[in-house]
Amino acid sequence: MADVESPAAPHSTPVPGASSMAGSQAPPGVPLLAVSGLQSWYGESHILHGVDFEVRRGEVVTLLGRNGVGKTTTLKSVMGMVGKRRGSVRFEGGETIELSSDRIARLGIAICPEERGIFASLTVLENLLLPPIVREGGFSLERIYALFPNLQERQASQGTKLSGGEQQMLAIGRILRTGATLLLLDEPTEGLAPVIVQQIGGTIRKLKEEGLTILLVEQNLRFAQTVADRHYVMENGRVIDMIPNAELDANMEKVHEYLGV
Ligand SMILES: Nc1ncnc2c1ncn2[C@@H]1O[C@H](COP(=O)(O)OP(=O)(O)OP(=O)(O)O)[C@@H](O)[C@H]1O
Ligand SMILES: [Mg+2]
Repeated sequence: MADVESPAAPHSTPVPGASSMAGSQAPPGVPLLAVSGLQSWYGESHILHGVDFEVRRGEVVTLLGRNGVGKTTTLKSVMGMVGKRRGSVRFEGGETIELSSDRIARLGIAICPEERGIFASLTVLENLLLPPIVREGGFSLERIYALFPNLQERQASQGTKLSGGEQQMLAIGRILRTGATLLLLDEPTEGLAPVIVQQIGGTIRKLKEEGLTILLVEQNLRFAQTVADRHYVMENGRVIDMIPNAELDANMEKVHEYLGV
């Protein structure tokens, strides 16, 4: 059970009564998330071969890349949800590579998986109340409903009765309640109608305004462009390029080549 920590790791000495504002424990100038030389395995399969990137507080950053390059695995690896990981994943300056996924969640990182993970037999409200609150500063139900009015209207509906868009909103709303300050979103727009995609975009921009930090896996480049500050491109289990959003248009030819579109 012993978490491997040293006095140098800020997480080993939580400050009593520390403010619960998003990212407030990160020392100034330190990226909220700094990943370097990250390698991951599922069993014997070596998937990530040294992934490097960082996400600064308040940023929306995407991971782009063709199918199977390791985008989902990168999110899972940040969360500690792979068989084995090596390298460095620092959150708020503290090393997490030796921590369990449960412990990582309690630092304030939450993942919204591609399959969304809505419990079909539970109502919207029950789904919302399911994940444990890990930190102060999580969204109240009122705040979640203000962000997603549809969810309030449907709070007594079963998970199965929701549209794809509503399921995605529920999956995002659910992790906001936990108090996480870094959200890992895996293809939140996948399979959704354009009008819902726009709504998700609006939500991501609003969450950014509220101080949350978001690492987003996206296939929809045009959508990514409307929400992100920077884009990392992955290939074969590595990050091979970083493009600021403002320079995306000028680099479109290169990006299309990376993505094979
Ligand atoms: N549980 C697993 N066990 C073994 N191999 C896996 C597992 N999950 C994924 N992989 C393999 O790891 C590689 C990276 O997969 P990953 O899901 O991270 O890619 P991705 O970039 O998210 O792709 P996509 O765009 O299709 O979602 C793929 O070759 C995949 O087959
Ligand atoms: Mg994926």
